Amino acid sequence: MPAIEIKGLTKQYPVRLKREAVNAVDNLNLTVEQGEIFGFLGPNGAGKTTTIKTLLGLIYPTTGEAYVLGAPAGDISVKHRIAYLPEEPYFYEHMTAREVVSFYAQLFGRKRADAARRADELLDLVGLKADSTKTVRQFSKGMKQRVGIAQSLINDPELLFYDEPTSGLDPISHRDIRDLIVHLKTQGKTIFLSSHQLTDVELVCDRVSIMDRGVLKRMGRVDELVSGGQVEIVATGLENGLREKIQSAAQHSEFADGRAVILQPDDDAAVGQIVDMIRAGRGHVVSITPKRKRLEDIFVETVTERILVSPTGGNGASANGNGASLTTSESGVGNAAASKETSKQ
Ligand SMILES: Nc1ncnc2c1ncn2[C@@H]1O[C@H](COP(=O)(O)OP(=O)(O)OP(=O)(O)O)[C@@H](O)[C@H]1O
Ligand SMILES: [Mg+2]
Repeated sequence: MPAIEIKGLTKQYPVRLKREAVNAVDNLNLTVEQGEIFGFLGPNGAGKTTTIKTLLGLIYPTTGEAYVLGAPAGDISVKHRIAYLPEEPYFYEHMTAREVVSFYAQLFGRKRADAARRADELLDLVGLKADSTKTVRQFSKGMKQRVGIAQSLINDPELLFYDEPTSGLDPISHRDIRDLIVHLKTQGKTIFLSSHQLTDVELVCDRVSIMDRGVLKRMGRVDELVSGGQVEIVATGLENGLREKIQSAAQHSEFADGRAVILQPDDDAAVGQIVDMIRAGRGHVVSITPKRKRLEDIFVETVTERILVSPTGGNGASANGNGASLTTSESGVGNAAASKETSKQ
């Protein structure tokens, strides 16, 4: 049984006056397996929070279905097995962190002393032990975020929905929360993680999806998405017409200061052809390196594709309704990379 299953989900918010309706989420199909850390990415307004709220049953889909741990979204029977950290968590400011977390623990049915014990344990886990008797009003944004994370773990959930858990955190706190998320995965938990912190996402997520204006644009394993599909060969000592031969055989090549930097598609035959050519011409292969992209490059590529295709932007409804197809890691990224870098010198 998948942790999350979304089938043809569309959410249209009611519109005022004569404005055209916009699909905040447009025919979304998505499956998250148990035990995964799944990155749910997209620019502002892409539909991430809307999707999460639909999965939690806080809002209802216009059409389509969604299942959480096998039950229809919002089903009360699974609420004690899931957790949600909202984009902007809100707490009673006059309470101490310990009181807040104990209060929520009591809502889950723990007795007062047990709830306080659980609160101490979780506040320690998120690095707030020393500040647990301060009121939330005295807390910085990042400290409140940590209270939210502690609160999300009270019921030892199987599935966590984290909407921007590292927003407003300093670099050390980022690393702490990242480590905590990985630690939660080792306990077998599933994490549905919406974030704009692409470095964090690249480091912790197994798979990611990129939404744009309600439409799922790209999805795949992080390692496959960033692999880039190209290999860089660096060589020296290219003489006697070898340079010209390489120029016409390689996908892309640059020559400077007696060195050649050559890009080839990431397959043995294409790389082997160039390497054989260099060796036959008595050149030297200095290095052969698979070229990795950063997730940020993939994200920008995916979102700017839309801007390049439709410079006027269009309205949300028509842009979302144009049947923009999902590009998988295998085809999409490879092609995007190839089309950008096929120019020969
Ligand atoms: N309550 C609402 N009423 C009307 N429109 C809404 C409402 N909530 C969100 N929207 C619209 O739905 C679209 C998706 O918003 P959503 O909050 O899901 O985006 P998001 O991907 O979470 O963005 P962000 O990265 O800024 O958090 C946006 O166009 C937004 O204006
Ligand atoms: Mg959001």
